[in-house]
Amino acid sequence: MAIEIKNLTHWYLDQPTAALQSISLTIPDHEITAIVGKTGSGKSTLIKHLNGLLQPTTGEIEIVGQRLTQRSSARDLQRVRQQVGMVFQNPAQQLFAKTVLDDVMAGPVALGMERDQAQQRAQTALQLVHFPVRLQSQDPVLLSGGQQRRAAIAGVLALEPQVVIFDEPTAGLDAQGQRELLHLLRDLQSTGRTIIMVTHEMDLVAQLASHVVVLANGQLAFAGAPRTLFQSEPELVQSTNLVPPESLQVVQTLAPTTPRSELPLIETELQRWLLRYLGRDDDHGSTSG
Ligand SMILES: Nc1ncnc2c1ncn2[C@@H]1O[C@H](COP(=O)(O)OP(=O)(O)O)[C@@H](O)[C@H]1O
Ligand SMILES: [Mg+2]
Repeated sequence: MAIEIKNLTHWYLDQPTAALQSISLTIPDHEITAIVGKTGSGKSTLIKHLNGLLQPTTGEIEIVGQRLTQRSSARDLQRVRQQVGMVFQNPAQQLFAKTVLDDVMAGPVALGMERDQAQQRAQTALQLVHFPVRLQSQDPVLLSGGQQRRAAIAGVLALEPQVVIFDEPTAGLDAQGQRELLHLLRDLQSTGRTIIMVTHEMDLVAQLASHVVVLANGQLAFAGAPRTLFQSEPELVQSTNLVPPESLQVVQTLAPTTPRSELPLIETELQRWLLRYLGRDDDHGSTSG
């Protein structure tokens, strides 16, 4: 059952305007949905509603078979939190225990699972994120940023959530770390989970997401396919400060008159486009090269 957000409004106390203004949106199951927009547009506020960290001022959310409103009980919120995992922007925030393994086990243990079984769960989760076995007994504070992030993700996965939400998962990662994260997100999706990620990386959106949601000043500015956003909504892309995928920018620089529907979004499309472009040059009898 898809995630349904209906007329969601959120006012933070003492703020002059609502951080989210009557957002209505469907987030499909088993796919990767990206949430994008300028800093302060409401992205983090939105995702915190999806696992009950924040409650709507008005409106409601249907997720993992629960309906969340202003009046939802602590028990309902708890139930949602077990099935909707959240990986925060700063992974260090999420690591508390003395060793990585203890940390990743902490969630299942808190749910009342036997230690043996919790450890099994933790090790499976650590394997899924390719966390090195030799570092499992390490103190999390001694890990690199990329390792901390993987440990934090494993801690969330150990609860076997149906939905996993990432707030800016590639922030602070080097190119290698970003590639690994991309593969991890794909792996997670292939196991049938629903993935939601807040990101500023439009290349990641183009490569991974089947749906993209654009927020602007707490309002829904766009919801649809990345291809539609980048090819058909250039004004919106610009006004919301989104940096289009690299491949699209290359072609717009090289051949500004290219029809919008032919603009490539990802590298393999760019390669195909370039081959065609070079071939066409030959047709015109170019003598260069
Ligand atoms: N805890 C808070 N208390 C008051 N205002 C907040 C709080 N968190 C966020 N805001 C405000 O809500 C708006 C949306 O913030 P946020 O959801 O963090 O945006 P984003 O994640 O897109 O950067 C901003 O104007 C921000 O200042
Ligand atoms: Mg944020």
